[in-house]
Amino acid sequence: MARRNRGPRLFRRPQSGVLAIVTTASAPLLRAEGIELSFGGVAALKSVSLDVQPGGITALIGPNGAGKTSLFNVISGFHKADAGRLIFDGTDFTNLATHKRAALGMARTFQNISLFPGMTVLDNIKLGAHTHLKTGVLAAGLFWGPARREETELRAQIEREIIDFLEIDHIRKTPVSMLPYGLQKRVELGRALAMRPKLLLLDEPVAGMNREETEDMARFILDLQEEWGVTVLLVEHDMSMVMDISDHVVVLNFGEKIAEGPPQEMQENPAVIEAYLGAAQDAA
Ligand SMILES: Nc1ncnc2c1ncn2[C@@H]1O[C@H](COP(=O)(O)OP(=O)(O)O)[C@@H](O)[C@H]1O
Ligand SMILES: [Mg+2]
Repeated sequence: MARRNRGPRLFRRPQSGVLAIVTTASAPLLRAEGIELSFGGVAALKSVSLDVQPGGITALIGPNGAGKTSLFNVISGFHKADAGRLIFDGTDFTNLATHKRAALGMARTFQNISLFPGMTVLDNIKLGAHTHLKTGVLAAGLFWGPARREETELRAQIEREIIDFLEIDHIRKTPVSMLPYGLQKRVELGRALAMRPKLLLLDEPVAGMNREETEDMARFILDLQEEWGVTVLLVEHDMSMVMDISDHVVVLNFGEKIAEGPPQEMQENPAVIEAYLGAAQDAA
């Protein structure tokens, strides 16, 4: 495929000093402050704070049950936090209804695929665009005559760009249920992109993928950040991918943030190593 001609299959381009300056100097795109969440007696999140800098790839890692998905659920509104504050692009959205959060500029994918399996690739992606337009163009009151045509054109343009970018033109009429897992995950990414997000929340985007599918997905995520300027917050278990593509890593363990910093530092951080070793021993 065309994108493979760009060079060796290394996920990461060389770190640029400019990016580092920009990300440390600007306000966070997403801020979570002191988030608390418990299910009955189980504290899933204990005063977790997190900043996602614009333009970067932030990875949220930690052993199973650490609270990663719970934090995503609080951010996207599936769970209401017991305490804490959420700010997106300067707007406090702590109490904003779930269906209004997408309009702020956030889209997510799920740890388990949540597509409509009987529908085609294109129709699944259209659903994402529909959400975007409904909350954007339509909410602005532009729903008569020319605006309606504009809406259709805008939709078609969004769909074309995404299908082109994700290299899924050949399967756009195929029902999602007939696709291999790696492609289904790619379609799910396409649906999230159709919402035109500033921030993309990806929950384990390469879980269950083989090596080649993983490399493809890592490349798409990097290209999204570099070419489309999308900011990414990603939960991931694949450590080599986290190390290769993220700018900043936040580590959770038992619902608490135990460390954060550059990927290399986190890999060598004693508390992080202990958390993963502890989890491995529990599993053994
Ligand atoms: N809907 C839920 N009901 C009850 N407990 C939950 C629910 N979701 C998560 N938990 C618990 O919260 C903790 C964090 O889970 P989760 O956020 O899924 O972790 P991770 O994504 O890091 O593996 C775990 O102890 C889990 O059992
Ligand atoms: Mg999870």
